[in-house]
Amino acid sequence: MNRNIVAGNWKMNLTFDEAKALVEALNTRVVHPNCSVILGVPSIYLSQLQALLSNESITLAAQNCHHKLSGAFTGEISVPMLQSVNIPYVILGHSERREYFKESDSMILEKVNHALSHDLKVIYCCGEPLSIREENEQNQFIGNQLRESILQLDASDMANIIIAYEPIWAIGTGVTASAQQAQDMHAHIRSLVKDVYGDELAQQTSILYGGSVKPVNASALFSNPDVDGGLVGGASLNPDDFISIIEAF
Ligand code: PGA
Repeated sequence: MNRNIVAGNWKMNLTFDEAKALVEALNTRVVHPNCSVILGVPSIYLSQLQALLSNESITLAAQNCHHKLSGAFTGEISVPMLQSVNIPYVILGHSERREYFKESDSMILEKVNHALSHDLKVIYCCGEPLSIREENEQNQFIGNQLRESILQLDASDMANIIIAYEPIWAIGTGVTASAQQAQDMHAHIRSLVKDVYGDELAQQTSILYGGSVKPVNASALFSNPDVDGGLVGGASLNPDDFISIIEAF
């Protein structure tokens, strides 16, 4: 099985015309990639962009959903809504959601469970703040984050999880984890998955690195045995940059 994935996370960027132009460029320019390509786009564009996608290597992700299935939550988007318009992936647990929208591990786990039970696959984000990295406590921090969330899932559900390791100090800062720092953490994460689910599932799990992935650092990051691709923010907004990152495989 090919674990390689390059996912874009557009965040709250691009007007519809800009989004359409980017998808049209990727439709024609992403040819025989050595990885699956996922685009995390603003929810308001999901259906229209889905209709515009004509490249089989590319699929869409929502960037978030609510942790309840329906009800009086003005402005929110539910898992059944995403399922009803055939969106295959949802990004959950992004550090921006945790920080700015006060999402807790338990709330994120609720979202993960709903997504999986409605046939969506989940890109689950984890990552430590700078203070933890400076104390060299990142392995323990990530271990706790994963044990309190996805490592509680059944094995059949875990098979539908993609893990994105995104050190918070590297997101949108231009500072990237070194290839060695990424490999060390990804190997640690894979060993945590192995401890709970065994080697076969651990080997099948895609573990993506996120945090200032750019054309200049993508191949060094992706050449590590446990780095199966990237979750790319800023550089996913520019077709030339995003395509060079895809071609880094
Ligand atoms: P960045 O964002 O590539 O702009 O650092 C990554 C992310 O937040 O997913």
